[in-house]
Amino acid sequence: MMDYSALEEAHSSGVYAKRPVMIVRGEGALLWDDKGREYVDCIGGQGAANLGHGNPAVAAALAAQARELISCPEILHNELRAKLMDRLCELTGLPRVYLCNSGTEAVEAAFKFARVSTRRTEIVAAMRGFHGRTMGALSATWNKAYREPFLPLVPGFRHVPYNNLEALRQAVTDQTAAVILEVVQGEGGVHPGSPEFLLGAQALCQERGALLIVDEVQTGFGRTGKMFACQHHGLQPDLLCVAKSIAGGVPMGALLIGERVGVLPGHIHGSTFGGNPLACAASLAALSEMARLDLPGRAAESGAYLIARLREIPSPLVRDVRGLGLLVGMELRSKAAPYLSALMDRGVLALNAGLNVLRFLPPLVITHEQLDRVVEAVGAVLAEPVRELAGVPE
Ligand SMILES: Cc1ncc(COP(=O)(O)O)c(C=O)c1O
Repeated sequence: MMDYSALEEAHSSGVYAKRPVMIVRGEGALLWDDKGREYVDCIGGQGAANLGHGNPAVAAALAAQARELISCPEILHNELRAKLMDRLCELTGLPRVYLCNSGTEAVEAAFKFARVSTRRTEIVAAMRGFHGRTMGALSATWNKAYREPFLPLVPGFRHVPYNNLEALRQAVTDQTAAVILEVVQGEGGVHPGSPEFLLGAQALCQERGALLIVDEVQTGFGRTGKMFACQHHGLQPDLLCVAKSIAGGVPMGALLIGERVGVLPGHIHGSTFGGNPLACAASLAALSEMARLDLPGRAAESGAYLIARLREIPSPLVRDVRGLGLLVGMELRSKAAPYLSALMDRGVLALNAGLNVLRFLPPLVITHEQLDRVVEAVGAVLAEPVRELAGVPE
């Protein structure tokens, strides 16, 4: 039989560190590999699978729309797109939307629109922040390992410590086009923002004529226990970046645009696939499923349960367990990677966030029984000797 792992290794770019597993099918919060082995999925499509795998309503909407119309660029009107724009604006309270295909594109558009709108060029971002991998979004991303191979990046970006309002106050000037922040830093280690910092940033932007960009690419669509994490604090961004789970796992991103941005000149930006009917159909179906299943409510309840159960694990290796909703991090006193591979051996797929944080990002439909399996596996791998797991001397 053909070894498809080897075939993929032979042809892929090499930029991904792949795990040795071939995933073939998913349902809800479960995944299966080509040998029929079942996994509890705490990778959750890296945040794109909030709705769970194999949602029938999304599958039906996609199939029906694929037969009707797939391509229709935004220079033509489309009923589904109109309905989706209306729904996204209703959900976020922001009046306009630019549709694209990924999180990094939403961030990129936010920077371009902020520059055009304010006629300023500087962007202030946060240390440990992650905003994507295209050149503009990467310029706002903090991690050196992502940035350094691509220097020089876009000029005019600076980083301040997250949750430090005084540092932000010093960094925002009359040249600042925008401040970009996550409500919870996901990739950067699962660090929730304090309400004082986030609301202080909003007030500061208003005072100094800068725009507030909130990046909810990872925290949006129920993940943190509210439809959008901004709603925990009454935060009102001028530009709101969303993507990942917006269309039930189908590639799509969106930038919601507030009143302070003003009217954008025509032709300054665009995307061939942005707002295509296939993604719009998937998104409309996904959004109504999220409401029907009360995914934000489930994330709030299940997230509190997961955090409480992880905190019960009596291991000296655990430094902290934190999170909001089902965006949960367990900080270790040791590197996370060996534990991720040990978890996989026990049927749990999870992520890291930085070097030493285990990150759990399951579909929001995950059951308590499945969360119990995750907690048991975490407890078991933390109890095993480090040397055996890590293959490195203590
Ligand atoms: C907060 C945040 N912003 C932006 C991105 C980039 O999104 P994408 O991978 O869809 O380009 C991510 C991806 O993980 C993210 O977590």
